[in-house]
Amino acid sequence: MLRDSYNRTIRDLRISLTDRCNFRCFYCLPNGEPPMARRETLLTFEEIVTLSEIFVSLGIEKIRLTGGEPMLRRGVVDLIGRLSKLKPSLNDIALTTNGQTIPENAAALRDAGLDRITISLDSLNDANFREITGVDQLGNVLRSIDAAKTAGFGTIKVNACIVRGRNDHEVVEMARFARENAISYRFIEFMPLDSGHEWNREQVVSGREIHEAIHAAFPLELVDKTRGSETAWKYKFADGSPGEIGIIAPVTEMFCGQCSRIRLTADGQIRTCLFSTSEHNLRDVLRGGASRDEIIDFIKTVVMKKEPRHYINDTAFVSPSRSMSFIGG
Ligand code: GTP
Ligand code: 5AD
Ligand code: SF4
Repeated sequence: MLRDSYNRTIRDLRISLTDRCNFRCFYCLPNGEPPMARRETLLTFEEIVTLSEIFVSLGIEKIRLTGGEPMLRRGVVDLIGRLSKLKPSLNDIALTTNGQTIPENAAALRDAGLDRITISLDSLNDANFREITGVDQLGNVLRSIDAAKTAGFGTIKVNACIVRGRNDHEVVEMARFARENAISYRFIEFMPLDSGHEWNREQVVSGREIHEAIHAAFPLELVDKTRGSETAWKYKFADGSPGEIGIIAPVTEMFCGQCSRIRLTADGQIRTCLFSTSEHNLRDVLRGGASRDEIIDFIKTVVMKKEPRHYINDTAFVSPSRSMSFIGG
């Protein structure tokens, strides 16, 4: 069991497969790609599988593959097949993707053992999608949702990072889309994780504002009064329509007290918080020939150092050492 010094149990591991991305979302990678990890510093799939097995033996139940854009790494389907062998101790394998290559890959991902897929969709309008992501790919992302459904994924999660003046005028349309397509649309407050360091508080649309706007158009009912270690408050539509709304409000309603997550970067660093300002080099421990027990000791020691919370709202806030395209959400 992995437990931190605040008695939180760590059950959720997010593994970034690459720092590269083929989108240029202004809230993430506005100035193009920062220097990427050198190829030899990237964990190989062999190493990822070895470490995942150890993490699962320590009580990790969920693995989420992220990026950058994880599908840019060749062989993701194969990796998922290998991770699937860790089931049932591992009971959930998920993927967060921008959706671009999902239409042609959804079935193979499902067959390999992927349990869940989360697709980013920050605008439903062609021109605004292009403005936000820097690419003309709305059609493909919409097709990816259909392809994921056809491939047999259950309720599909769709993420939108809401930024004032950029896409906050679309939240009601997005809620309508959730109803019409029976998906879980999740609205995320903008966090200071952009590589351009241009985040400012005025751009944050609070979860409460988002909820009010949607609730006025489509009355919502809270699904659960507690959310455990989950990030989202979940709402169903009061009129019984299909679909779900999730509100993720890390800035205005911090949820760190229940956090169950740690992260592994593509170059093998453990991050104990999305906002960590330092990292722990698991890659060097592994490549240095450490025994399984030594690796386990290293992981347990690192987890004990997990931060109690983020400090976004403190005056002394310091942005994390790396931006979202390195950390993976
Ligand atoms: P599951 O819980 O496995 O379904 O993961 P998910 O990616 O579908 O949803 P999750 O709620 O974990 O993450 C969605 C978004 O919430 C991420 O892309 C981040 O923007 C944000 N988020 C996730 N984990 C954290 C966290 O630990 N801290 C903060 N501040 N934000 C987070
Ligand atoms: N603030 C909030 N959410 C973000 N994401 C990326 N950058 C940020 C940010 N600065 C979200 C995107 C994507 C997921 C991986 O992380 O919406 O869906
Ligand atoms: Fe790429 Fe995702 Fe970042 Fe957008 S949010 S630039 S899709 S990694």
